[in-house]
Amino acid sequence: MLKRGLFQRPREIAMATKVRVAKAADVPIGEARVIDTAGRPIALVNAEGTFYAVDNTCLHRGGPVGEGELDGTVLTCPWHGWRWEVTTGANTNNPAVKLACYPVTVENGEVYVEI
Ligand code: FES
Repeated sequence: MLKRGLFQRPREIAMATKVRVAKAADVPIGEARVIDTAGRPIALVNAEGTFYAVDNTCLHRGGPVGEGELDGTVLTCPWHGWRWEVTTGANTNNPAVKLACYPVTVENGEVYVEI
């Protein structure tokens, strides 16, 4: 007799898509940009010369994180000042609250994000 669940469908695994989002030169060190990638806004950050990508929608009340000020690797939401560590997506006051992070690569001066 077969065990229950043997014929269950495997869970679908979402495949990431690598998307070119900007020229590296368009996002200077210490700045962030909001990029609309396939209908999903992300905050692309150049923190100390390394690029990071996090969800642009603040988990407080939906503010545009990518329009905030960057201090080192901490991005501050312009609406009410929640602060986000862009290397992990974690909120600086409550690290259990995290923005989604996306892998970023730079190739030949072009920035790619895996969405
Ligand atoms: S919406 Fe970002 S801090 Fe309130």
